[in-house]
Amino acid sequence: MAVHLAPIGIATLDEQHLEMGGMLRAFQIAIIRGCPAAEIRAMVESSLAALCAHCRHEEALMEKSAYPEAAAHRLDHERLVLAAAAYSEDVLHHRQPTEVLNEHGDLLRSIFVAHMDRDDRALAQHLVRMGLG
Ligand SMILES: [Fe+2]
Ligand SMILES: [Fe+2]
Repeated sequence: MAVHLAPIGIATLDEQHLEMGGMLRAFQIAIIRGCPAAEIRAMVESSLAALCAHCRHEEALMEKSAYPEAAAHRLDHERLVLAAAAYSEDVLHHRQPTEVLNEHGDLLRSIFVAHMDRDDRALAQHLVRMGLG
């Protein structure tokens, strides 16, 4: 499964995708290092806020451009946010050993990359066609 993403061609979205990828990586490093709970909690909160803001940003673009796949894309965002929130809860409450949390983080990354590579790329192509790219 791919863990890296080629740019989708919309600068603001590509920047946000890179930023979120970096946050997830930093988060995994903090877990491995056994960083203090308060530090991890702050990272969880900022990562989830960034993910939600990113999803809202894409959803606003979908609405503005009358994107025909908006409903399915929005539903996928809800799934991504739920998956990220479940992972965050496991981390915050030490529900799993570090190795399992790290594997879970890798899985989350591959789910995100799959969404970006398929759904976000299709959205980007639509935005370019509509002159919004
Ligand atoms: Fe995205
Ligand atoms: Fe998306």
